[in-house]
Amino acid sequence: MIKIYNKKETTTQNIFLFSEDDWEQEKSNYPNTEHFFNGKKSEVFIKTDSNEINFFIGIGRDSKGFEIQNVANKFANDYKKNLQAVATSVHSKLGLDLTEEFVKGLFLGTYLYPFERSHPFWQENFELYFENISDDEAKNLALKTEALCNGQFAGMEWLNKPANYKKVDQISEFLKSTSEKYGLKYKSLNREESIKEGLGAFVAVNQGSSQEASFTILEYKSEKENAKTIGLVGKCVLFDTGGISIKGSANLHYMKSDMGGASAVIGALITASELKLPVNIIAILPITDNAVSEKAYLPSDVITAYSGKTIEVLDTDAEGRMTLADGLSYLSKNYETDVLIDLATLTGSSVRMFGYTCGAYFSNNDDLKKSLEKSADKTNQRLWNLPLWDVWKDDFTSDVADFKNISMKPFGDCIVAAKFLEQFIEGHQNWAHLDIAGVAFGNVGYAKDKAATGYGVQLLLDFIENYN
Ligand code: BES
Ligand code: MG
Ligand code: ZN
Repeated sequence: MIKIYNKKETTTQNIFLFSEDDWEQEKSNYPNTEHFFNGKKSEVFIKTDSNEINFFIGIGRDSKGFEIQNVANKFANDYKKNLQAVATSVHSKLGLDLTEEFVKGLFLGTYLYPFERSHPFWQENFELYFENISDDEAKNLALKTEALCNGQFAGMEWLNKPANYKKVDQISEFLKSTSEKYGLKYKSLNREESIKEGLGAFVAVNQGSSQEASFTILEYKSEKENAKTIGLVGKCVLFDTGGISIKGSANLHYMKSDMGGASAVIGALITASELKLPVNIIAILPITDNAVSEKAYLPSDVITAYSGKTIEVLDTDAEGRMTLADGLSYLSKNYETDVLIDLATLTGSSVRMFGYTCGAYFSNNDDLKKSLEKSADKTNQRLWNLPLWDVWKDDFTSDVADFKNISMKPFGDCIVAAKFLEQFIEGHQNWAHLDIAGVAFGNVGYAKDKAATGYGVQLLLDFIENYN
């Protein structure tokens, strides 16, 4: 449990936060440190006395919230061996908002895969003291940070799991017990039930798998009357081999990360319900893998999606848009939502476009665009808008069905995929699609190879907090 207090006490472990300017003014008070530290962003100087350890951490100049969070995250991760599980005072001039960012970063920086609360910060004897915030504020900060860690870590943990540890049954068990824990409504349709329900596009992807399908619906209902309802759909392909249109073997292991959309949704849902945020959330996770087998769907198959529209499959590796098409139609047809957002590691095209710098997003609503971008900029989980112009639709009209699942042109697939999804939102007027293939799984401080970044959780939470 995270323990944060307002107290001015002498502690044996201290953290001093200095901007470059503050340090310039105050360094003469620290005669033995003056020449070793400048306050540059992420600079750390450790000064030990006989029974004291002091960490001087630089936060640079005019740092924004996410930068402070990053400094703290990096510090918690880099210095875990030096840090002790003892009462610790933080001396800083940060206001409440930036202090919150700092604390979130500190605790998010304790993540390792597989995650155990073994970092000194999670131990019984670790307490954090701030001089500049009240006791109530401190308590609130602890609750918020813990809820964020519980959500974000759960999402990251599932994303990082190797393919043989994230089978449909295993993640479904987790989602079921999570629902019990947080009082969420849980419903899952297996393959047979999905067929009966008419989820043809989702089932097409699952039919080649030796694993059951699990079209999962999770509902968080807030106690607030007339709360707004947010619909979330997360791509949850547990492993993407490409299916019959099989992928090459180079870097194929990264395709365990094809549930990055779902992990963002799971994280946000857990945190939101732990904090009892005053909104309703309906989350759909169409869970399956994309496997190669005798039973797998084939290029040329014509599939009837949940909406009744037909899809000619020309590439079985474009499976994400199949599962999402049904997720979106199902949510839009069966639930009243004020806003509908899907997140997906959908296309290599978005990675080629933006690398690891931002997600590509698409929306049919200008106000929604503004709020999403605001949250994306604030959390540094950035998004860049791309068009949904009708001309793109011409690229996936089919001779034998309403649509093809790919365009035959060698460009713009992330736009094609988004335009394709738009055909399945059943006229929802406030929809956004986030293609996060480049940002969900990548270079991180806590692992040597690519791993879960946690992208999307804080973005969604910030959006949710401002959406009521
Ligand atoms: N899961 C992939 C997209 C992806 C690529 C995610 C790289 C993360 C990193 C998706 O299902 C896929 O295979 N897309 C194909 C679509 C193509 C066949 C039209 C792609 O992008 O190559
Ligand atoms: Mg694919
Ligand atoms: Zn995929």
